[in-house]
Amino acid sequence: MSNIATNEKIPNNVNLAEDRRLQRALEQWQPSFLDWWREMGPEGFQLQDIFLRTAISADTDGWAHFDYVRMPEYRWGIFLADPVPNRTIGFGDDYGKPVWQEVPGEHRNALRRLIVTQGDTEPASVEQQRFLGKTCPSLYDLRNLFQVNVEEGRHLWAMVYLLHSYFGRDGREEAEALLQRRSGNPDNPRILGAFNAPMQHWLSFYMFTYFTDRDGKYQLLALAESSFDPLSRTTRFMLTEEAHHMFVGETGILRIVERTAEIMKQHPSDDPRRHGVIDLPTIQKYMNYWYSLSLDLFGGEVSSNAAHYFASGLKGRAHEDRFEEHSALDAYYAMDVLEDGKLTREEVALRNAMNEVLRDAYVEDSQRGVDKFNKLLTEAGIDFQFKLPSRRFNRQVGLFAGVPVSVEGELLTQAAWDARRDAWLPTEADEAYIHHLMSQPVYEPGKMAHWIAPPKRGIKGRPVDFEYVRMD
Ligand SMILES: [Fe+2]
Ligand SMILES: [Fe+2]
Repeated sequence: MSNIATNEKIPNNVNLAEDRRLQRALEQWQPSFLDWWREMGPEGFQLQDIFLRTAISADTDGWAHFDYVRMPEYRWGIFLADPVPNRTIGFGDDYGKPVWQEVPGEHRNALRRLIVTQGDTEPASVEQQRFLGKTCPSLYDLRNLFQVNVEEGRHLWAMVYLLHSYFGRDGREEAEALLQRRSGNPDNPRILGAFNAPMQHWLSFYMFTYFTDRDGKYQLLALAESSFDPLSRTTRFMLTEEAHHMFVGETGILRIVERTAEIMKQHPSDDPRRHGVIDLPTIQKYMNYWYSLSLDLFGGEVSSNAAHYFASGLKGRAHEDRFEEHSALDAYYAMDVLEDGKLTREEVALRNAMNEVLRDAYVEDSQRGVDKFNKLLTEAGIDFQFKLPSRRFNRQVGLFAGVPVSVEGELLTQAAWDARRDAWLPTEADEAYIHHLMSQPVYEPGKMAHWIAPPKRGIKGRPVDFEYVRMD
């Protein structure tokens, strides 16, 4: 087990105290981080006591501590999963050789790019979610929002630790820039598209934590395979926190669907909106939107960057050990591509298709929650099923960027797409309805907004009506 230092300025299990230079550099970055948090973190609630989980070690049992804490006093720490003894490279051209404890010169730029891109998503999502506390459906949900926010803050710390430790001056400059970019700012936006999209209400929040945090899961799984061992160990530990974020999304959507189903049973012939809940087709539209945006995060279907990352051992496939063969040479991946305005099946060299391989795993994983939503509807006797749209639908990145494709995946004329757009994606009227529905926050312990069912259970054995956020 690694050495844990929790009473230092920066809690860590990386022996920070033994590396004075690094410790000083990170201690200098810390006030900038806190300035960023105050400026761009959750609006309000900074003085409230919130029942939060804090990582205190990387042990599988007992890695977290739960207690009331004020967000600016949250103990953002640096925790790496314990090293795997004699770990060797698991894929690519250097398969079987020892993993790297330092950054090889020839991979310095690519690795820095991967770390910065991952790191950039963490503060971005906090920025996107900063106003949601003002419209929360319950104290339980409010607490979950802030839990996600502080942990994304810790994930930023995780990436900044790598930048400071292994990338010298460039790394320190990148760490500064991570606090300068702003989600949705046209002059200095966050790096990836979905992390600049506005998130104005809780339906989008749950969709984001379900779909976009799940992209995070798959990126982290791929980076956990990295030959650069510190990156692997950092991301492995981040995955334990990430699981809760997706839980928040999945159960949030499920509770909305449950509440709508309840109202539909009581008033079978009415528009559910008349009864103050979100109708199922609208939920489907938000699903289409956030899912397609999140698919873009995996990058182009055919990518020489992805091939390079794989060949050189920087980024693997999720659960690389489940594959039989780890070089991915002389292997092909069949995918639909666009040729002369038609869909054609094409064999692509497997290494060039690595983004698509990771996207496959993501698509499969995304479907599992959707099956649960559908099971709930079936059990409620409601004749409606959610469906993930085709992965070609509404794409802004890759082979189908800007190509008019239906939710079923067929190519359309632009006019046909335009005519059906409002049936597939949220409209201004949908946004307005949801804004109106969610305009009043619920700050009373145990109470829920009308449009969502209560959770099955509370957090860490506490009841649902526990005072997760002390409002006074
Ligand atoms: Fe994260
Ligand atoms: Fe997350």
